[in-house]
Amino acid sequence: MLRYFFIGFSLLVLLIVSITGFRGWKSKRPPIEIFPDMVRQAKYKAQSESDFYADDRSARQHVPGTVPLGYSSPQVYQPDGPHHDASSAGDVMGDAGPYGHIEFSASPDYVATGRIGNQWGTGIPFEVTAATMKRGRERYNINCAVCHGAVGMGNGIVSKYGLNGIANQQQQRIRDMADGEIFNTITWGKNSMMGYASTIQVPDRWAIIAYLRALQRAEHATLQDLPEDIAKQYQKPSIDNKLPANLQ
Ligand code: HEC
Repeated sequence: MLRYFFIGFSLLVLLIVSITGFRGWKSKRPPIEIFPDMVRQAKYKAQSESDFYADDRSARQHVPGTVPLGYSSPQVYQPDGPHHDASSAGDVMGDAGPYGHIEFSASPDYVATGRIGNQWGTGIPFEVTAATMKRGRERYNINCAVCHGAVGMGNGIVSKYGLNGIANQQQQRIRDMADGEIFNTITWGKNSMMGYASTIQVPDRWAIIAYLRALQRAEHATLQDLPEDIAKQYQKPSIDNKLPANLQ
C-alpha cells in the first residue's frame, strides 16, 4: 500500500516540479522542441543573401531559354508586348486592347476576377471567335473533362475512382450561373475542386467558359436553334399544332 503511495507521491512531485519548477530560469540554449512543426526550414526567404552563389544573391535569374507556362517557344515570348503565337492563350483574345497580354493577371477588374463591384458579372470580356472556342475545347478537355466529363455531366473518369459530388454542369443552376462566378470557381476552386489560378491563364479561363456555354447550349438545344430549312425536316406532327382558322 505504502509503495503505491510513494510511487504516486514521487510522480506528483515530478509533475509539480516539471510544471512550475523551472519557471523564470533563463537559458541561451534553444528550447527542447518535441513537435517543431517545420518552424525552421532549410530554405531561402525572398530577397535574402546567400554565400553559396558567387553573386551573393539567393534569387536566381531564369536559365536562358526558359519558356513561361502557356508559351510555346522563346522566339514568340516578348515579356513586354503582344505576341503572336497561335497556340498560346494570348491569341484567344487577339490583341484585345488593354487585355492583349494578361496571362495570369491578378488585376482587380472584371477580366481577372469575374466581379463587377460586389456582384458577379456575366459575359465573355472579349470577342469570341472560332479560335476562342477551339482553344476553350482544348483547355476544357485537358483540365476539366477528367472530372466533369466531355459534355460536363460530372461523369469524367475521376468519378469512377471515388471522387464524389462532381458538379453536373448541365444542371439548371449552373446554366443560370453568371460567367463571373464560374470564372471565380476556375480560379479558386470550390470545396473538393482545386483552383487553377496558377495553371490556367486568364484568357484561357474565359475560353473554357465560352466552350462550357456551348456544351450547355448543345445539350439543351431545341428545334428553334436549327436553321429553319433543317428544322423542318425534324418537325413532327403534333396534336398541339392548331389548325389554321379557315380549316377549323
Ligand atoms: C479533380 C476534379 C475536378 C476538376 C479537374 C474540375 N472540377 Fe469543377 N468541380 C469538381 C467538384 C468535385 C465540384 C463540386 C464542388 C462542390 O460544390 O462541392 C466542382 C464544381 C464545379 C462547378 C460548380 C461550382 C458551383 O458553384 O457549384 C463549376 C462551374 C466547375 N466545377 C467548373 C470546372 C471547370 C471549368 C474545370 C476545368 C477548368 C473544372 N471544374 C475542373 C471537381 C473538378
